[in-house]
Amino acid sequence: MAPKLLASTFLVTCFLSCAVAQPVPARKKPNILFVLMDDMGWGDVGFRDSQFHTPTIDGMYSQGVRFNNSYTPPNCGPSRAALLSGVYPWRMGLQGNAINSGSSAAIPLGRTILPQKLKDDLGYQTHLVGKWHQGFCKTEQTPTERGFDSFFGFYLSKQDPFSHLSKKDAYDFRSDHEVNRSVAGQYSTYLFSERTRQLVREYKDSLASNADTKPFFIMLSYSALHAPNQVPQHYIDQHCADVSDHNRQIKCGMMAAVDEGLKNITDDLKAHGLMDDLLVVFTSDDGGDHEEGSSNWPLRGNKRTLWEGGIRVNTFMYSESRDILPETNFTWGGLFYISDFYATLSGMIEDTETRKLPEIVDSYNQWTYIKTGQTTGTNRLEIAYVDQDLGVAMLRRDQWKLLYMQSRHPGWYNPPPGVTAREEPNRNDLPKYQLFDLDRDPEETTDVRKDNYERYIRMAASLREVRRMAVNPIDEDLHSDPDRFDGVWSPGWC
Ligand SMILES: *[C@@H]1O[C@H](CO)[C@@H](O)[C@H](O)[C@H]1NC(C)=O
Ligand SMILES: *[C@@H]1O[C@H](CO)[C@@H](O)[C@H](O)[C@H]1NC(C)=O
Ligand SMILES: *[C@@H]1O[C@H](CO)[C@@H](O)[C@H](O)[C@H]1NC(C)=O
Ligand SMILES: *[C@@H]1O[C@H](CO)[C@@H](O)[C@H](O)[C@H]1NC(C)=O
Repeated sequence: MAPKLLASTFLVTCFLSCAVAQPVPARKKPNILFVLMDDMGWGDVGFRDSQFHTPTIDGMYSQGVRFNNSYTPPNCGPSRAALLSGVYPWRMGLQGNAINSGSSAAIPLGRTILPQKLKDDLGYQTHLVGKWHQGFCKTEQTPTERGFDSFFGFYLSKQDPFSHLSKKDAYDFRSDHEVNRSVAGQYSTYLFSERTRQLVREYKDSLASNADTKPFFIMLSYSALHAPNQVPQHYIDQHCADVSDHNRQIKCGMMAAVDEGLKNITDDLKAHGLMDDLLVVFTSDDGGDHEEGSSNWPLRGNKRTLWEGGIRVNTFMYSESRDILPETNFTWGGLFYISDFYATLSGMIEDTETRKLPEIVDSYNQWTYIKTGQTTGTNRLEIAYVDQDLGVAMLRRDQWKLLYMQSRHPGWYNPPPGVTAREEPNRNDLPKYQLFDLDRDPEETTDVRKDNYERYIRMAASLREVRRMAVNPIDEDLHSDPDRFDGVWSPGWC
């Protein structure tokens, strides 16, 4: 089916253009460093909170393409499923807790996920460094069987960043398939940054002997800022002494370590003369957890909620090459979802404007807009989300956002020093539906259903339809018992 489709698309394209067009030299494929943060809140970075020390990230942000309307699911497992598959997690039963610790759930093996696309269709070498969290009950679900040429990191959702012990105090760290015990005691952010530097060195060495070396896609999936909060003390002493809240001070240190890691990596790329071939993508899988010291200020709510603070994240692209990113240093306000990276990166690599890829149903190619330097414009008309575990749903259309049953974490938390937060509403007073105009009211202070009654009724009907379409989240399957595998979280139990 797929090759036939491709062939006919090619014929049509050729019919329209081959007679007149000069042969276009193949566009050079950029190396891609995709930095995926874990639970990094809207306010957990230097360009939003000056007490945080992230000069490397701030520099790329200020000169990059700043996505101002970039959204994710409200928690890690579903968000990574959307990123990798280009499909809403609620179409696959992967919302809620489906992929937590002992689950056999995963993106269906028949789907071609992003690293497979990059590797098999687009000619990339692909590497996952850090957190996977997309299933491991059988070997076929693990990263190197799903399109990554290499894997250095962990399977579950979180772990102690020094001991690499996860839930049930079982060990979780691997190099490809092999349990890697030699990293025990070394801090995750350091390990993941160093591994990335090693991959860059290997790329550079390979290039020296073979001009046909494939470009790289490195997914640098840091475990920071996810709890547990731990960081080598010197990051706090050097950069976060002024942060008064204890938890927030550790988050600040964790961010300083990430920033240093990214500085190390980009310094190496500079030294190797590779900056002109590089695209950096930076984003987070969801919002921060205020109870752990993160801040989504001034946005409302928390991780695991559909308030803006749970799902609106800091995202940017950065490149020093105008061949890679023709326009730069601007804020792009088009509506974007984490599932759009699939079609957008594919579109960018091939420089196509095809709005969607067949079968990647919730991924829109936004390259069309990003490359032109327009501040608005999007191929995505709406965002829909349903999570029966959390008992919530939402629909975003243009600037309007309809929330269903969202009452947990209804406040605005962890304001900057000297600022007083609005009073937290009583969650029992909140209505079943709430409608916000995010252009006027990005902090979601005022329910505008009354003044937009017709719109509210229309959107509520659409949201009911979405809720009917959503499959139930796959139940957590707790058959993974690390005791059966020598105290290590391991495949082989489904
Ligand atoms: C980004 O979005 C926020 C919230 O909607 C808005 O206040 C801000 O002006 C936007 N920034 C730019 C540069 O568009
Ligand atoms: C474990 O990781 C280290 C990198 O920190 C690497 O040098 C070593 O070869 C790895 N061990 C195994 C068993 O793959
Ligand atoms: C960055 O590199 C320096 C010097 O090699 C090293 O001491 C530091 O630990 C590295 N930082 C990270 C986060 O990897
Ligand atoms: C980015 O654009 C702003 C104006 O929009 C300008 O002041 C600034 O100098 C630019 N930065 C760079 C690095 O070009």
